[in-house]
Amino acid sequence: MSHPPTPVPPPALDPAQLALGDMDVEAFRRHGHAVVEQVARYLESVAERPPLARLRPGSLVAALPPHPPAEPEALETILDDVDRLVVPALTHWTHPRFFAYFSSSASGPGILGEWVAAALNSNAMLWRTAPAATELEQVATGWLGELMGLPASWAGHINDTASVSTLVALAAAREAAGLRIGEEGLAGRPELPRLTVYGSTETHSSVAKAVVTLGLGRAGYRAVACDAAFRMDPAALAEAIAEDQALGRRPLAVVATVGTTSTASVDPVAEIARICADAGLWLHIDAAYGGALAVAPEHRHLLRGTEAADSLVVNPHKGLFVPLDCSVLFVRDPARLRRAFSLVPPYLRASAGDAPAAAGASSIGDLMDTGIALGRRFRALKLWMVMRYFGADGLAARIRAQVALAARVAGFVDSRPGWERMAPASMAVVCFRHHPAGCDDEERLDAHNRAILERLDAGGVVFCSSTELRGRFVLRVAVGQLRTGPADVDRLLLELERAASEDPAA
Ligand SMILES: Cc1ncc(COP(=O)(O)O)c(C=O)c1O
Repeated sequence: MSHPPTPVPPPALDPAQLALGDMDVEAFRRHGHAVVEQVARYLESVAERPPLARLRPGSLVAALPPHPPAEPEALETILDDVDRLVVPALTHWTHPRFFAYFSSSASGPGILGEWVAAALNSNAMLWRTAPAATELEQVATGWLGELMGLPASWAGHINDTASVSTLVALAAAREAAGLRIGEEGLAGRPELPRLTVYGSTETHSSVAKAVVTLGLGRAGYRAVACDAAFRMDPAALAEAIAEDQALGRRPLAVVATVGTTSTASVDPVAEIARICADAGLWLHIDAAYGGALAVAPEHRHLLRGTEAADSLVVNPHKGLFVPLDCSVLFVRDPARLRRAFSLVPPYLRASAGDAPAAAGASSIGDLMDTGIALGRRFRALKLWMVMRYFGADGLAARIRAQVALAARVAGFVDSRPGWERMAPASMAVVCFRHHPAGCDDEERLDAHNRAILERLDAGGVVFCSSTELRGRFVLRVAVGQLRTGPADVDRLLLELERAASEDPAA
């Protein structure tokens, strides 16, 4: 005969356990105010720091304890270490004299949007897990598309970076090719032709990386030639496609760029679109940088022809004052993204009547179905806040100001003896070199301009980057930091003159 179990009394709670849990709200409020103060101090003093980090690799690692603390530490001590050790080890992307790469502006509303999103910690994997994040993403990307003049029917989807947006777009292109790659994969299928994606010699490396990640191999990517202004040559593209078709390969997609990384050149999208339509290829537009320019109505023509594309990526974290990370992938037909990415296990199945029906036919539905990641940050919030805070006119005015500042750099290069422009100035990018009279040896000119860049880096006043055009070393200035003003550009020009005159190779 079984006896009823003797009730076991619950273990007494250790008083220390009662103190477990998060930082209490009062302490949060106090520390939060201190953090706002610390960040405000950083923003108002960043211009006094060297824009490029000046420390030896490994310095921060060496300055920090090798093991995590066993005991709690006071937040004041931690924040003090951020100020003392971490901030001096940064390259300051927020610096007004950051002219390297493509800048990323952490604007005030963007920073605050990040903070609020972190606190709300909404995980936008399903509509039901994050209705506001899902729907705000639809609203914010819809607004952005409208500001850029994109077709109203396109749907936007936020990823972390353009690299991932392009990977997602090309995965959708691969699926749309009708080769059942989603079901059967690529391996062990000798019947599959070699699939080819086309870019140009100026296309960003993220495209080739996406092609490799998608299993098409480096050989599955072809970089076609550019014209003298670094724009994809449509005749070379048509030729490459015809050549591949003749060899039994299967052209899959073309990536055209609006705002290439080195020179901000713009591929002839309308012509490329016609080639894609004739050959039945997916057209993806990499407007990671250049797309933002279209927010200023006078630059909207840069996107001419993109309405015929299948997908387009723009990075608000490059040109639209939204802090990293925020990349928007627009697609003509979100169903094609879903076909590539929807894979719903039972534990994620939504109830009937959830996302797609609730959010409307043209919507993107559950966001986990349109990309790689399941868990997703609430990135739409900062994008929405930035667009509201500055307004369309304010965004356009800021973009216009940056283009005007870059024109000042181009004007200097074109008018001062000894300086030579190496590509047409486009958007807010200028590529040039110092070319002293009588010094025509290309190797020497490369070395001289390298030395100029090293002097600028060592000077700790401005940060520029470089690129290679037609095999030659070229200095590159991109104006894109929200805090950059005419005085910063004038200082850049002064530093360039100084560095050029100090290099003995000249
Ligand atoms: C034209 C272009 N496309 C794509 C990228 C990659 O952007 P992300 O860093 O967001 O992946 C860049 C980066 O600068 C770029 O210039």
